[in-house]
Amino acid sequence: MHPKGRLVQSVSLDLRCDFGSYRGMTEKLLIVLTGAGISAESGLKTFRDHNGLWENHRVEDVASPEGFRRDPRLVQDFYNARRAQLLSPEVRPNAGHEALVRLEREWPGEFLLVTQNVDNLHERAGNQRLLHMHGELLKARCLRTHAVHEWTDPILPDTRCPCCRRSGTLRPHIVWFGEMPLEMPRVYGLLARCDVFLAIGTSGQVYPAAGFVEAVPETARTVELNLEASAVSSAFGEHLHGPAGRIVPAFVDQLLENLRQS
Ligand code: OAD
Repeated sequence: MHPKGRLVQSVSLDLRCDFGSYRGMTEKLLIVLTGAGISAESGLKTFRDHNGLWENHRVEDVASPEGFRRDPRLVQDFYNARRAQLLSPEVRPNAGHEALVRLEREWPGEFLLVTQNVDNLHERAGNQRLLHMHGELLKARCLRTHAVHEWTDPILPDTRCPCCRRSGTLRPHIVWFGEMPLEMPRVYGLLARCDVFLAIGTSGQVYPAAGFVEAVPETARTVELNLEASAVSSAFGEHLHGPAGRIVPAFVDQLLENLRQS
């Protein structure tokens, strides 16, 4: 992952769905990319907004392999707290997550949801064709065997790894800065023949995800749904600005309604 940023002007709200016939859609590939913004209304902090996670923690301390080598306890505590918050009863999928479940179920063609989020709100809502490119908070990885384990407890200095039976060998199954996001060859293969690309709740400041919009064919329909213009807004053909809990259901409902009528 690499941070990179560029500012563009905000553009207008547009709910038009000018697709052709429903029959043609059965061969169309829809890829949705999500970021922290879609989980904001579920009570999880984003990274770069005011009071976001990166305002209160240095990225290089808690989200890099060097930071982990320097101070594993600090890093484990950061993810222990986030894991505990994710498991608290107040944190639930919101209307934006739920709309993406309708979209997956009713989209007549191929569908893939690629999320940068390490929470489990998409799967809890019901999405199935889902890929976590930055890892998962509820998984831990053994540094010795690389085995990945389902994980809900805090990882403490004396926590033993279920496979190697040692303490101090588990790390969060999270992609840190300087590490390769997961499943990229598969994602790029699909982006290359994508027909509709939606990016939801992501600032467009972290690559490679920020560059996905440039990897789809020129003929693809590209829509950014975000609270505000992202750093890569100008690469999208259409823009919808507002909270994900409102604009994602509105967009999805209109899109599906249009498809049903065609
Ligand atoms: P950011 O925090 O960079 O961006 C969140 C985006 O969501 C911003 O553009 C906000 O304007 C927007 N936003 C905030 N609230 C929203 C709402 N209610 N509805 C819609 N949009 C909203 O988060 P990401 O782009 O996801 O990696 O960050 C990318 C990666 O950087 C993360 O996956 C993370 C981080 O370092 C790891 O930690 C592995």
